[in-house]
Amino acid sequence: MKKYVLVGAGSRALYMFAKPLAADWKDTVSFAGVYDTNPKRARFLSEECGGIPVYDDFQGMLASVQPDVVIVASADYTHHTYIVEALNAGCDVISEKPMTIDEEKCWEILKAEQESGKKVTVTFNLRFAPYFARVKELLMAGTIGEVFHIDLEWFLDRRHGADYFRRWHAELGNSGGLLVHKSTHHFDIVNWWMNSCPEEVHAFGARRVYGDDRQEHGGRCLTCHRQDDCEFYLDIEKDEFMNQYYRQAEGEDGYIRDRCLFDSRIDIYDTMSVQVRYQNQAMLTYSLVAYSPYEGWRAAINGSKGRIEVSNIYANADMKQGEANRIYIYHADGRQELVEVDVSASGHGGGDAKLRRALFAQDGVPDPLGQQADSRIGAQSMLIGVLANRSIAEGGVQKLPDLSAAAIRAAGPYGAEQGERELRLKRERSSEDNQSPRLGSGRLSEGERG
Ligand SMILES: NC(=O)c1ccc[n+]([C@@H]2O[C@H](COP(=O)([O-])OP(=O)(O)OC[C@H]3O[C@@H](n4cnc5c(N)ncnc54)[C@H](O)[C@@H]3O)[C@@H](O)[C@H]2O)c1
Repeated sequence: MKKYVLVGAGSRALYMFAKPLAADWKDTVSFAGVYDTNPKRARFLSEECGGIPVYDDFQGMLASVQPDVVIVASADYTHHTYIVEALNAGCDVISEKPMTIDEEKCWEILKAEQESGKKVTVTFNLRFAPYFARVKELLMAGTIGEVFHIDLEWFLDRRHGADYFRRWHAELGNSGGLLVHKSTHHFDIVNWWMNSCPEEVHAFGARRVYGDDRQEHGGRCLTCHRQDDCEFYLDIEKDEFMNQYYRQAEGEDGYIRDRCLFDSRIDIYDTMSVQVRYQNQAMLTYSLVAYSPYEGWRAAINGSKGRIEVSNIYANADMKQGEANRIYIYHADGRQELVEVDVSASGHGGGDAKLRRALFAQDGVPDPLGQQADSRIGAQSMLIGVLANRSIAEGGVQKLPDLSAAAIRAAGPYGAEQGERELRLKRERSSEDNQSPRLGSGRLSEGERG
């Protein structure tokens, strides 16, 4: 039986991996350990999963368990460390999205994977959600011919969208902002539908709702004097899971789950507009807002022989309460078709359970649609976000690096030309940061770090 260990004991780790591995998958795989920098959270997770061993350091866990596979579900800015250490220890890796948050870390991962001969899989669960998969099937069948252009609009509501601004995600240095943390899903779906590689990126971004505009506010909801009149007030102690896993574990690492949405540390955007051109000359027009009155997305796919329109407007982040999930097909000759997809299953429209089968079924699962994502796929989608951030900061069109095996082999420790550039800019930014408290380093302080 293959041995798996888990890094990270937050909500995603618990619901996507730990609980299912300890229950549904217990006869197929051995779930042999968990590590989180917050030992209390790791212990809570262990208690819910039949008492799997909790380790107090990652290397110790590797040495003691000798796992076949390391699952990385910690905060985004920590992924690369664990991915690289696991590969170097001879393990395969399953990483939560985004694979990592900047170009330098991305190259570290790609090089470590190539040199170790082990494998990184990135968990893009939306590829497994039936609605997205059905669109892929239709595109592969040539229903609208060659794809020339995709228009994707995504909107997070004031509960889900706001939540990113309460936590570590609110700082570019921790998450790469929503264009990396969140849009990596969306860019991946478009890359997959497009069946081509992204080449050039241009973007605009702004903070219009969250951030340090509100003059009078508290540090966190729990103790805020504006609880009665703030539309974003969150009672962290009311929700059983949040209270236990985050509020009660605060003492260990200072990870505050209900920080103010109007804090000056926030440097990510809430309003974003991106354009991407692909190697086959196809184009993407993409937008994301994080304060919509309702949650969902709309896409139009324009091809040589017609157009597909899809949308899903849902009331919560779990995508459970979507509309009918219809696919409208408009053929160039005037015919129209309607395809209905059953999306009743829970967990990202049933995508999470299907993804787990692809990850953990030991006899392999056929993959006719190409749903399983490797490190190159993981790199492409997160790099669109990284380059979009760069375009927002510096202007202009930004080019994706060559990610071929030969380019990875030839690249230095920080990648090719772009990696060197990233390092130079980082150095410049950090000298600016030292002069400007508003910009900040974008990092959690040692005490805050999870
Ligand atoms: N695929 C999806 O739909 C989906 C959904 C949610 C989250 N995610 C991803 O899952 C990961 C976890 O997200 P979450 O929402 O559970 O966040 P979270 O903040 O609830 O959990 C993160 C955990 O990482 C731990 N951690 C922080 N620094 C660490 C370090 N250096 N070493 C080990 N552990 C550390 C924290 O203590 C915390 O327990 C993120 O990468 C996120 O992008 C994916």
